[in-house]
Amino acid sequence: MSKLRALMIEDSLDDARLLRLELERAGYELVSERVETGSDVEEALRDRDWDIVFSDWTMPGFSAPDALEIVKQRGLDLPFIIISGSIGEDVVIDALRSGAHDFFVKGRLTLLPPAVERELREAALRRERRHMQEQLMIGDRMASVGLLAAGVAHEINNPLAVVIGNIELSLRLLEDKTADDPCSRDVSAQLRDAHEAAERIRNVANDLILFARADSEEHTGVDVRPVIESSLRMAHNEIRHRARLRTSFAVVPPVEANESRLGQVFLNLIVNAAHSIPEGRADVNEISVATMLAPNGHVVVQVRDTGSGMSADVMKHLFSPFFTTKPLGLGTGLGLSICHRIVTSFGGTITVESDLGRGSVFEVHLLPAERVADPVAPAAALRASDRRGSVLVVDDEPAIGLLVTGVLGKDHDVTSTTTALEALEWITQGARYDVILCDLMMPHLTGMDFYSELTRIAPEQAQRVIFLTGGAFTPQARQFLDEVDNMRIDKPFKIQALSAIVNDRV
Ligand SMILES: Nc1ncnc2c1ncn2[C@@H]1O[C@H](COP(=O)(O)OP(=O)(O)OP(=O)(O)O)[C@@H](O)[C@H]1O
Ligand SMILES: [Mg+2]
Repeated sequence: MSKLRALMIEDSLDDARLLRLELERAGYELVSERVETGSDVEEALRDRDWDIVFSDWTMPGFSAPDALEIVKQRGLDLPFIIISGSIGEDVVIDALRSGAHDFFVKGRLTLLPPAVERELREAALRRERRHMQEQLMIGDRMASVGLLAAGVAHEINNPLAVVIGNIELSLRLLEDKTADDPCSRDVSAQLRDAHEAAERIRNVANDLILFARADSEEHTGVDVRPVIESSLRMAHNEIRHRARLRTSFAVVPPVEANESRLGQVFLNLIVNAAHSIPEGRADVNEISVATMLAPNGHVVVQVRDTGSGMSADVMKHLFSPFFTTKPLGLGTGLGLSICHRIVTSFGGTITVESDLGRGSVFEVHLLPAERVADPVAPAAALRASDRRGSVLVVDDEPAIGLLVTGVLGKDHDVTSTTTALEALEWITQGARYDVILCDLMMPHLTGMDFYSELTRIAPEQAQRVIFLTGGAFTPQARQFLDEVDNMRIDKPFKIQALSAIVNDRV
């Protein structure tokens, strides 16, 4: 016997009973409720789940079209079947036009069960189709955000490498002069300010790259704190006019997660918290983000706001794709459904509590990691090089070549070119280098093409290639980097680190 949750909109107790009998006779195990006013319909649809709605055509003060309107407004796609006393054909047509799925006359219900069967089947198909469409759209949004972020990060990191490198170089030139020259001291101080600001830009670009890394879905031990801090930096603009920010970080173990996905979760929660607070009263509102260790060893990240809070009704649909209370064009309603998907994929959970008019608390519970990510290699100590080496720079951005010449030129012979083709020509003619610094993404011949050609004509030189990267890659470039043994330096780089790496190799 299949279960059927049926909402019956009917003012006559007898007619409702007859309908129930008919359905039970057809083998349904019925869970039904009879209502007859608009507010009862609203309440029943809001608080309970239904498979189907049966409605009388007219009742005192209420009608089937009114009921249908309520169902539609709630965004529900439920089979809606009208069961009425005998009425005219034109009314039947009106009813079907307004979106009812079928129409039966009271007392002639023999064909009702097969119609119910058919409508349930079709509604299930529609649900399935919608679900697939939602999944596709979510995937699309993720992919396009990732691509966009990767592109922007790449465009920022190249010029930023030149900015940071030249500032560091200028500071180095001024080093000996500042002691007795006030003007040099001032210039140094200003350069240090500029350096700090450029570092901040570097952070923003790296935050974008976190998003771009969506293709590597590997789970490792992730330290939640830097991920939260990076999300807070990205949301800074949304927060500052609305609330004070409070953070409290307990010491917690690394969690089972993917860093970039986790960043996405925190960013969504923080932006939602900010959007729940109107702009302008930042002094009386607060967003607080805290980490804590639950008694069961799980790591909890809590995002709390003093914003609008949510009604029970909103809470019910919160994690459904496309559910939003924001005006058209302002929210996609995908944020929380994506968060939910990501967190559950890590084996975690996401919970919410809210007090209408006072604020909300979202909690992400994450499992402590079983394995911890490889620790980052400690920065190489600066070691003066013993001999003058020869260095080749291949980068389509001429300023990078100039910068590297500025950094290394004192200790080594540096040659640079903006095309990999020219570099190949030199090497074919017999030129040899101790270190070849090569950009990965270049128009025409890429770093990957250059490398494979080099493996053919001068394999010993191929081993000397170090890739300079803008930090974001096409999937193909990522695979390439995973496969080759060659070292990689991300732009923007510290000139000291660059010197250390090159000195080590000549
Ligand atoms: N902290 C919060 N306080 C109050 N309401 C919230 C909060 N977080 C989410 N909501 C409610 O949940 C709805 C769905 O959130 P979700 O993040 O999924 O989509 P959105 O924010 O509307 O759109 P998008 O994330 O695409 O900008 C929001 O429209 C809002 O009504
Ligand atoms: Mg959102």
